[in-house]
Amino acid sequence: MNKILISLLVSLGITGVAHAAGDAAAGQQKVAVCAACHGADGNSPAPNFPKLAGQNENYLLKQLNDIKGGARTVVEMTGMLDAMSEQDLADIAAYFASQNVQIGQAAADQVAAGQEIYRAGIADKGVAACTACHSPNGKGNNAAGFPSLSGQHATYVESSLNKFASGERNNDPSGMMQDIAVKLNEEEMKAVSQYVQGLH
Ligand code: HEC
Ligand code: HEC
Repeated sequence: MNKILISLLVSLGITGVAHAAGDAAAGQQKVAVCAACHGADGNSPAPNFPKLAGQNENYLLKQLNDIKGGARTVVEMTGMLDAMSEQDLADIAAYFASQNVQIGQAAADQVAAGQEIYRAGIADKGVAACTACHSPNGKGNNAAGFPSLSGQHATYVESSLNKFASGERNNDPSGMMQDIAVKLNEEEMKAVSQYVQGLH
């Protein structure tokens, strides 16, 4: 492959990991330790812990590698992935990707504002529509490494947007989420986070 193509694919997260094909059934045997926070099937009971159920497999695998390697800091998971092999992570990603996410509900007073941002962006601030990457139904794009936001806890989504905006989370390829989040004010983050909690 030529250099430009390779760097493009890397920046999209496609070649970021050497692919061991994940086995969902094997993965199910490896997630007991995750259940307390993320739920046995990946539908986390607490709004500050992300739902992993139905998340895109490539995105999950990238995050697991980033968390293990330190490119993304998750204090609550310190050391937890250290003993896991590339195959273990691939199996875990396959398992959570195969589960069904439980869709939440958006706060009624935030739906209109949230939907506007999600579907149209904010033109005068140069904020792209979220649909461009996360897709109209919120499922993202597995091949491109764009995560699903559908049904995700609003609390976690809002916290993630804040972490991208401050640069505390900076493992997004080419800084594409940091560029967007930094332009959103608190109210806009809150509205779009509520909207995706009910999106499917
Ligand atoms: C003590 C609680 C806790 C445990 C146990 C835990 N996690 Fe997490 N995990 C978190 C928190 C909190 C975050 C989100 C941190 C943030 O705000 O960025 C997270 C994030 C993640 C993410 C990124 C999700 C996303 O949408 O970007 C993945 C994947 C993940 N955890 C997988 C696992 C796996 C697999 C295990 C078990 C081996 C596990 N976690 C165990 C608390 C936990
Ligand atoms: C140009 C493509 C693009 C656009 C447009 C975009 N995103 Fe993202 N988003 C991404 C990528 C890529 C990631 C994953 C970064 C990584 O691999 O760590 C991401 C991650 C996220 C996450 C973290 C998900 C998780 O599970 O931790 C949230 C929340 C998010 N985006 C919200 C939004 C919102 C809200 C909008 C619209 C205002 C938006 N994004 C627009 C590409 C985009």
